[in-house]
Amino acid sequence: MRLNQLVLRNFRSYTDCEIDFTDRVNLIVGENAQGKTTLLEAIYFLSTAKSHRTYPDNELIRYNESWFYLRGKIAAANGSDTNPEAQIEPLDLMTVEVSNELSGKKRFKFNGVLQKKLSEWIGQFNVVFFSPESLTLVKGAPADRRRFIDLLISQIDSVYLSSLQNYQFALKQRNELLKQIRSKQANPDFLDPWDDILIAEGISISQTRVRMFAQLKAYVQAKHTELTGDREVLELKYQPSPEKIDRAPKQEATELFRQGLQSSRSYDILRGMTAVGPHRDDFKLILESQSAGAMYFQEAKAFGSQGQQRTIALALKLGELELIRETTGKTPIVLLDDVFSELDGERSSFLFNLLGRLNAQTFITSTRQEAWGPELGDCRVFTVHDGQVN
Ligand SMILES: Nc1ncnc2c1ncn2[C@@H]1O[C@H](COP(=O)(O)OP(=O)(O)O)[C@@H](O)[C@H]1O
Ligand SMILES: [Mg+2]
Repeated sequence: MRLNQLVLRNFRSYTDCEIDFTDRVNLIVGENAQGKTTLLEAIYFLSTAKSHRTYPDNELIRYNESWFYLRGKIAAANGSDTNPEAQIEPLDLMTVEVSNELSGKKRFKFNGVLQKKLSEWIGQFNVVFFSPESLTLVKGAPADRRRFIDLLISQIDSVYLSSLQNYQFALKQRNELLKQIRSKQANPDFLDPWDDILIAEGISISQTRVRMFAQLKAYVQAKHTELTGDREVLELKYQPSPEKIDRAPKQEATELFRQGLQSSRSYDILRGMTAVGPHRDDFKLILESQSAGAMYFQEAKAFGSQGQQRTIALALKLGELELIRETTGKTPIVLLDDVFSELDGERSSFLFNLLGRLNAQTFITSTRQEAWGPELGDCRVFTVHDGQVN
């Protein structure tokens, strides 16, 4: 896929801006606070209907204005663009538009047609975003890792996002009810129908996650090996809730989940929260190393160096790209925000090399233009100054 053109109106520091991009590397250069990240944020918003850094969306509206508008013109090979010959195949051209009003009204248009469901919006234009904040994939809370997995699967499976939305709705209702039961305003039996929904949707969520995670893991490990020059080994372990649900056949999984909810019920009522279910899933990232002939296994979150943690986060994102490419037959757009300033020379050059071979349209922000080597190949430079692009 590629983004040929982007229009931003009243989006943060941009008043009205139209930019034409190149197929390969787009280098966005400028001093701090000039609007570099905002460009990537706009592209990400067109893909996911969210900002990678802000909530609520109203913060994205330019100060003293009441709406913003974004438009992207996108080309995707008609069929698959994973092989180089696809470049000459006919292209599907798409226009995606998003607008947001201060009142909270958000509109999406695909080729001029208003779209109703978020689950159908996500997945038509895929991007992979890597920024310094991506480090939370390694160092952050389980919720950060679940969000990554959920967004990844939502991009390739629209049924998944609907299940997730149903699950989250039922979970919220159940938690409300738990609080009412605690204050003796409701009967514990009222929990049963919510438990049924949690179990039905939860099992399909768990099983999809576990299946996708297994595929993702292979890609992430391969990218990690490339990024470390084959010197470090990364192990990834999915931890579902309830435990072992990933290895049970459907009937047994249902029982496991039901028992889990039953046995934590009184505890749940006490806390007004549901302790068991895929909203508690997590995955572990473990670095294997060898020293004096013995193997060591250490959780990257606690023991990895900054450089090792960044490399793992990057491997997760590049693994995401490969998985989306493999499943959809289309190569996502790669967004790299301020990444090279934080990697040491050797890790940067591994990344340069890897990017050169990805064959994906890439957007890179940097405060320094001269840091760029010939490894990147064809490259168009955009200079950003005070919400203007040249
Ligand atoms: N809602 C907004 N309206 C106008 N300007 C904004 C808004 N939100 C952020 N900005 C401005 O945008 C600039 C930050 O842009 P950003 O893309 O993060 O910069 P960079 O990545 O180049 O450092 C800051 O000058 C900030 O004050
Ligand atoms: Mg920035």
